Amino acid sequence: MKIFELKDVSFAYLGRFPALRAVSLEVRAGEKVAILGANGSGKSTLLRILNGLVFPQTGEVKAFGQPLTENGLDGAFNRFFRSKVALLFQNPDAQLFCPTVFDEVAFGPLQLDLPPEEIHQRVEDLLKLLRLEALRDRSPYELSLGEKKKVAVAAVFSTNPDVLLLDEPTASLDPRSTRTLIDLLVEANEGGKTLVTATHDLHLVPEISDRVYIFSEEKRVAAEGRPEELLADVEQLAKWNLIHLHKHAHQDYWHAHLHEHPSKEHTHNE
Ligand SMILES: Nc1ncnc2c1ncn2[C@@H]1O[C@H](COP(=O)(O)OP(=O)(O)OP(=O)(O)O)[C@@H](O)[C@H]1O
Ligand SMILES: [Mg+2]
Repeated sequence: MKIFELKDVSFAYLGRFPALRAVSLEVRAGEKVAILGANGSGKSTLLRILNGLVFPQTGEVKAFGQPLTENGLDGAFNRFFRSKVALLFQNPDAQLFCPTVFDEVAFGPLQLDLPPEEIHQRVEDLLKLLRLEALRDRSPYELSLGEKKKVAVAAVFSTNPDVLLLDEPTASLDPRSTRTLIDLLVEANEGGKTLVTATHDLHLVPEISDRVYIFSEEKRVAAEGRPEELLADVEQLAKWNLIHLHKHAHQDYWHAHLHEHPSKEHTHNE
């Protein structure tokens, strides 16, 4: 089954600032799809469109086989869609609004009329997993950026959506939190959930995707394919602004080489 289907979708903020140009793509149930691209290439805009937060000026968006339009997204379809799809925002400040961390993580499940014990258990499990227990009574606004991001992750997972849209989920997370989150995402996908992840972190792409879309700086789909194929072409990755030339200081000289090397670790003894 197709979860999302986009045909020739173009979007410009305020009708003036182009953010996506003639984008066609699809996401099937149970897939893990990564969205890669330079700053401003339209990744967050795409996720906003997939979440029904903004609607393109031209082109067609379908979700679960139905048109995802401003008028179509109301009533029963809106409730169905909102129960199935959740977005982790790139900026956690845009996501968090409750007085405490505990309330933030409990908010979603409370809307779903679940038994109180089950809600409590879900919240406790996520707080423990993401090591947020000590912060449970704190205001989400007064946390570090990484802590906020983890609270937002817990809030998204607590509603147990089938389709997770993740905008730079690991940005600003420390290594252990990154590992925990990736494991959580992989496990969710193995359990049947669909993942669409925008990321700059190429090292994680083989784990969090079985298909990749690369967006160009012209805000178009530049390539689609399997992660191992696309990540192997280092020259092309540099042209898409997904990896950069990095200067390294050696004992008595500098040299420049491609910094990211997703397929194998580089060494500095050449
Ligand atoms: N609220 C907004 N108002 C006007 N233009 C916007 C707005 N948000 C984004 N844009 C523009 O839309 C384009 C796509 O932005 P988007 O945030 O989707 O990029 P992105 O690929 O997510 O970038 P990043 O890697 O920096 O997160 C950019 O050129 C940006 O300037
Ligand atoms: Mg973005």
